[in-house]
Amino acid sequence: MTLAFAPPKPPYANYSGVGKLKLSDYWTYFQAMQRNPLEVWGEHHFSIRLAPFRFLGRSNLLLNDPAAIHQCFVSDAGNFIMNPLRQAVLRPFLRDGLLTAEGDVWKTARKAVSPVFTPRKVNGFAPLIRDVCESAATRLVDKAGETISVSDLMVELTLDVLMETLFSGDEALDKARFTRGICDLLEISGLPHPFDLMHLPGWLPRIGQGKSRQVIRDLRDQVGAVAAARRAAPSPEAAGRTPDFLDLLLGAGLDDTAVIDNLLTFLAAGHETTARSLAWTLYLLSRDTKTRDRVEAEIDAAPLADTDPAAWSGLLPFTEAVLKESLRLYPPAPMLTRTSKAWSLVAGLPVPAGTDILVSTWLLHRQRDIWQQPDEFRPDRFLGEAAAAIPRDAYLPFGLGPRVCIGARFAMMEMVIVMACLSKRLRLDFAGERDPVPVMRITLQPDTGMPMTVQPR
Ligand code: HEM
Repeated sequence: MTLAFAPPKPPYANYSGVGKLKLSDYWTYFQAMQRNPLEVWGEHHFSIRLAPFRFLGRSNLLLNDPAAIHQCFVSDAGNFIMNPLRQAVLRPFLRDGLLTAEGDVWKTARKAVSPVFTPRKVNGFAPLIRDVCESAATRLVDKAGETISVSDLMVELTLDVLMETLFSGDEALDKARFTRGICDLLEISGLPHPFDLMHLPGWLPRIGQGKSRQVIRDLRDQVGAVAAARRAAPSPEAAGRTPDFLDLLLGAGLDDTAVIDNLLTFLAAGHETTARSLAWTLYLLSRDTKTRDRVEAEIDAAPLADTDPAAWSGLLPFTEAVLKESLRLYPPAPMLTRTSKAWSLVAGLPVPAGTDILVSTWLLHRQRDIWQQPDEFRPDRFLGEAAAAIPRDAYLPFGLGPRVCIGARFAMMEMVIVMACLSKRLRLDFAGERDPVPVMRITLQPDTGMPMTVQPR
């Protein structure tokens, strides 16, 4: 087997051992959590299947085993609720949106929101996404020879796509102010607060809380105003436009609060995840130009102009495999967490009520027993027989079970369209002094801006 490109990753933590944390290990852990939570993992975590351990008086279970993950997230999902730490980070902003709702509120919301994400509805967004991407490609071609931050570019492009698909670029929304608010919020709430890590009560004031409350209030007010204006406006059919997510949510019979919660949820869940994934994909291709040549050849040969962009992925299997491999190496949701409600047995291990279940897709996607050459960029593993041989639940970029990502189809479609529109017109050459290393801030961000030079094709 020939060598493939292996992008750099953060250093391993040096612990005395899982389950036997010494006092000094706590310090290592806390420092890593603040600097880069990917650095909490030691080398042994990449081959371990199950690791029960206690941390600050709480029982934890790290799962790196597909069958045990299936049990907690699918077959016995009712016993595993959303983890309090994750809720402390996300709920102040997303409230009872689909990502953070629990129990019957979640069940009702998922039922109401599902019709918004049927394949037909999602495919309906494809021409709109293509138009946004083609305009972005034209603007980029004008920057021929310039070096740009691909990280920032993808954040802007995916936000443009969401603004069009959520609100049809509604004039009632001040886009610049809204974008500023979203960026502020990402910066403020990218990490769990140390008080939350220590499970201190929510009423204890946290530094920065005042600013984030103000940003959240402002974003909610803005979305609320757009939703109220839309209720009074003519229907999309009467206005002669494609229904956007706001129309679909209003049509699903949700009240104003639920509409705001879910629109902000789609933004929070669908923006940065997709942006980071595209940026990592473009980085991988800029460092593995043979693979980039294959992507370009596939895109050049496909009859894209004559095909509905919703069907492009069927014409571009290798491009889609590249995206899947990028999602494996850099999962935008690098940690899935749950907490057990009642005592249970997981893979033969007794799990007390209140145990935090941790599934690090960063570890799982690089598990030594599951993946060959786990740290290398090898898109062919997602084609044909190799793809069929990937064990069930070993690859979870979009989660699994009842709470699997509702926007997965939308995200994959969007990413294929972005790759096709950009690759047809231009090439991005890596221009950094060193390769970026992923840093966990809810998603996986690059620790550099990913500078690349634009070369028209
Ligand atoms: C590459 C892009 C994306 C990735 C990697 C991703 C990943 C995920 C993952 C892993 C979950 C499950 C979380 C858990 O089990 O705790 C999730 C849930 C969710 N995602 Fe995505 N997502 C992406 C794009 C999107 C988009 C574009 C949207 C909406 C437009 C979206 C909306 C949601 C929602 C609403 C949930 C909560 C579902 C529920 O709990 O019922 N996501 N996503």
